[in-house]
Amino acid sequence: MNRIVISTGGGDAPGLNAVIYSVVKSSLARGWEVYGSKSGYRGLIEPDELIRLTADQVRDITSTGGTILGSTNKGNPFAMPVENEAGEILLRDISDRIMTNFTRMGFSCHIAVGGDGSLEIAHRFAVEKGMPVIGVPKTIDNDLEATQMTFGFDTAVSTATEAIDKLHSTAKSHDRVMVVEVMGRDSGWIALSSGISGGADVILIPEIPFNIKTISRKIADNELDGKLYTIIVVAEGASAEESGKIHKKTEQSEIGRQELLLGGIGEWVAAKVRESSGKDTRSLVLGHLQRGGSPTTFDRLLALRFGAAAVRMAENSQFDQMVSLVNGEMEAVPLADAIRERKKVPLNSDKVMTAREIGICLGDY
Ligand code: F6P
Repeated sequence: MNRIVISTGGGDAPGLNAVIYSVVKSSLARGWEVYGSKSGYRGLIEPDELIRLTADQVRDITSTGGTILGSTNKGNPFAMPVENEAGEILLRDISDRIMTNFTRMGFSCHIAVGGDGSLEIAHRFAVEKGMPVIGVPKTIDNDLEATQMTFGFDTAVSTATEAIDKLHSTAKSHDRVMVVEVMGRDSGWIALSSGISGGADVILIPEIPFNIKTISRKIADNELDGKLYTIIVVAEGASAEESGKIHKKTEQSEIGRQELLLGGIGEWVAAKVRESSGKDTRSLVLGHLQRGGSPTTFDRLLALRFGAAAVRMAENSQFDQMVSLVNGEMEAVPLADAIRERKKVPLNSDKVMTAREIGICLGDY
C-alpha cells in the first residue's frame, strides 16, 4: 500500500482544491492513504500539521477557491529564516529533518502542487535527498515551461476579462482613459488573453517594451474614429522603453531570495498618458481578485486531470517529474525542464498576431 503526502505551495490559484480532491479520490480507489501537509512543508516539519485526508474531508471542495491545506510563498526548507538568541535572522537548512519525518511517516511519494518556486524546492528534494516527488503545475501566471497550461490561469483571465468588460461603460460615459493593471509577474499571458477578450485598445506586456507616444497616438486615433474613450490593460511586469519595471516593495521569496514585488505600473502609465494626451485618466489594480473565487470549468477539469495523472505517475514510480498538459493530453516531463526558466509570450505567437490584426496597440508601434 502506498501512503502519499500532498502539499500546496506558493501563491494560491483557483483549482488547488480540485487537485487535492482528485489525488485523494484516485488514491483511495487504489487502497492507498493520503496525508495533507499544511502550508507547504509545514506538515513535514511539524507532524502535528499533517492531516489525514479522507473522502469526507474532500467532499464538495472541487468548485471552491483557495486550498484546504493553506499555502505559503515563504520558507524554503533549504534556507529557512530562523531567529537566533541575539535576534538575528539566520538561514538554516532543515531539509534533513523533513526527510526524517517523511521516512518515519512511511510516505512513498510527495505530490507537490506549486509554481516555479515550490517545484524548484521539490526538485532539490528529489535530487539532493532522494525524495520521491511528483510535481503538479499551478499558477495564475501561466509562466511554467514544459506545460501548455497551468491550472488557475483560465480563472484569472476570466476574472480580468469580466472586469475589463465592466470598464467599457464607465470609460465611455466619461470619455476617459482607463488603465487596468493585471498580474502575471514577468510574463504577459494574463494581460494579453484578458485584454484581447475584453476588447482593450492597448495591451502592454513585459515581453514588449512600450512607448508612451505610441499609446497617445492610439488614443488620438480612437478620437478621430469617434471613439472618445480608451481601455489600456497593463501587465504588472511591463515596462516603458525608457524606464525599468516598477516595484512596490522587496520581499523574501519562496526560495529564500530577496525579490522585488511588482506593482504600480498602472498608475505610472496613467500619469504619463494624462500628461501627454491631456485626457481624463483613471487607473485600477485588479490584484488578488484574480487569484480568488471558484475555478472555471476549464480549470476544474484540468486540475482534476492533473491530480489523477499524478497518482498514475506515483503508481508507475515516475519521480522527479511533473504532470503536464501536452497537445491536450497528460504527460510526465522532468521537473528540471519545468523550472529552467519562466515561460514568456512568444512575439510571433498567434495571440500577439491576433491582437495586432484586430487593431490592438501593443505599445511598440
Ligand atoms: O505568482 C502569482 C502572483 O499572483 C503573481 O501574479 C503576483 O505577482 C504575485 O503572485 C503576488 O504575490 P503575493 O501574493 O505575495 O502578493
